[in-house]
Amino acid sequence: MTTLPSILLVGGGRMGSAMLAGWREQGLSQAVIVDPSPEAAKLAGPGITVVADATEIPFGFTPEAIILAVKPQMAAAVLPAYARFAAHALVISIMAGKTIHAIAQSVGREAAIVRAMPNTPAAVRQGITVAYPCSHVAPHQRELAHALLAATGAVAWISDEAQLDAVTAISGGGPAYVFLLTELMEQAGLDQGLPPELARQLARQTVIGSAALLAASDEDAATLRINVTSPGGTTAEALKLLRADDALPEIFRKAIAAATERSRALSA
Ligand SMILES: NC(=O)c1ccc[n+]([C@@H]2O[C@H](COP(=O)([O-])OP(=O)(O)OC[C@H]3O[C@@H](n4cnc5c(N)ncnc54)[C@H](OP(=O)(O)O)[C@@H]3O)[C@@H](O)[C@H]2O)c1
Repeated sequence: MTTLPSILLVGGGRMGSAMLAGWREQGLSQAVIVDPSPEAAKLAGPGITVVADATEIPFGFTPEAIILAVKPQMAAAVLPAYARFAAHALVISIMAGKTIHAIAQSVGREAAIVRAMPNTPAAVRQGITVAYPCSHVAPHQRELAHALLAATGAVAWISDEAQLDAVTAISGGGPAYVFLLTELMEQAGLDQGLPPELARQLARQTVIGSAALLAASDEDAATLRINVTSPGGTTAEALKLLRADDALPEIFRKAIAAATERSRALSA
């Protein structure tokens, strides 16, 4: 087990606490969490202090990494209080839509900032986080960012910040699309007269099992799809409708384009 350096986590909500759980598994030595919600007090533990406000951070605490995990709309009000730490620490922001430029305006223009986009499977260490480093991030800080982000799943780095809008649309929102597919399969089972409990179980376990098969297999998704599609069979009949040019391929293209555009508009 590696030991992670001292961490200041700003915002211990869903995503912040998921990351903290991952760091704990990796061997977290010392952390301070700033979060005013009563729920956050439960995150305290050996070496982990929870405070409600930046003014309560123990005197002399010098974090090597600051993770910004508050809601984006709070950034302007919350971030300036951390500028004094950001001068000597790596700053990782997971705030959707907050650009490096906007974060630097609050925490300091010289700050070493990594902007990252995780997704909710982080809660079960199966997430994927895409990260972009600003030019002030030194190689050892990039390694530290990688180690901290990898605690909740896979990590991919990009060298063009603008790509984060499409990343947000694909992997940020992706779990919602898969959950929607699960809901629609359950509903279609009900429409065919299956008992509700069975329709639900079939939809859930099919998604869970297919994801596990994809994870365990060397084949890509297209090959796994072809493997369960006998020519002229029942699956082929369904896929003919689903894969028609104006059906799922077109809807997905439009949906991802709309989400990407929305991400661009929110970051502007
Ligand atoms: N969840 C996702 O799928 C996802 C994916 C990618 C990126 N993100 C990003 O992750 C960030 C956190 O999202 P989340 O889903 O974890 O939200 P969340 O559950 O609402 O967590 C935010 C936490 O910050 C706390 N907080 C409020 N004011 C604060 C302050 N002044 N200082 C410190 N903490 C404060 C909130 O407390 P109260 O509840 O009391 O207000 C809450 O516990 C967002 O910027 C979001 O864009 C989330």
